[in-house]
Amino acid sequence: MTGLGPVAWPPAPIRTERLVLRESEARDRAAFIELFASPEVRTYLGGPRPRDELESVVPEVPGRRPGVFVIDLDGAMIGTVTLDRRDAERPGHLRPDAGEAELSYMFLPEAWGCGYATEACAAALGWFADALPGEPVVLCTQTANDRSMRLATKLGFTEVQRFEEWGAEQWFGVWSPVTPSG
Ligand SMILES: CC(C)(COP(=O)(O)OP(=O)(O)OC[C@H]1O[C@@H](n2cnc3c(N)ncnc32)[C@H](O)[C@@H]1OP(=O)(O)O)[C@@H](O)C(=O)NCCC(=O)NCCS
Repeated sequence: MTGLGPVAWPPAPIRTERLVLRESEARDRAAFIELFASPEVRTYLGGPRPRDELESVVPEVPGRRPGVFVIDLDGAMIGTVTLDRRDAERPGHLRPDAGEAELSYMFLPEAWGCGYATEACAAALGWFADALPGEPVVLCTQTANDRSMRLATKLGFTEVQRFEEWGAEQWFGVWSPVTPSG
């Protein structure tokens, strides 16, 4: 069992046309720090964190927990795609008992604009649909985050509701796996 439910973790690395989705390793630490220290990446995620603070608190192998995929391009980490359970205390839920599977993503700015996030998230959703058949996935992003909004739409998420949180308008959407007909 994992936080996500009865899924085996880590899965074998998932290969797409250009990328590999895999568990994190010690060699990814610098890229993790870069993600959290980057003003561009953190624009809609509460702002960057000080690099010296990150250097002291980030573990030797960051992000090693069920649901966290490192996205690898030619042997180097370019971002993360995560499937987690949505916190019950936060607004935005599909069901009264909360705990929906939630997709999130962060890519290094030099990897933006190439379709990598779309490719990686589609593969992660495909993995999830096989692991927990029939279960929907939710996503929450600021409406001001244009790139994230375009990505959510491209992946097939549809709007459930909008609400205010952390002084900004949030978009809460859902993705449902295609169920075989007949
Ligand atoms: C959100 C985020 C992942 C989106 O990144 P992105 O680079 O815009 O998304 P993709 O990698 O899918 O790239 C899509 C773009 O690549 C272009 N592209 C170029 N080559 C492509 C190819 N071969 N295939 C597909 N798209 C391609 C697309 O046209 C699209 O451009 P557009 O945005 O001008 O329409 C990124 O901005 C990010 O990490 N932001 C910071 C973290 C964050 O805010 N996360 C949200 C919280 S959940």
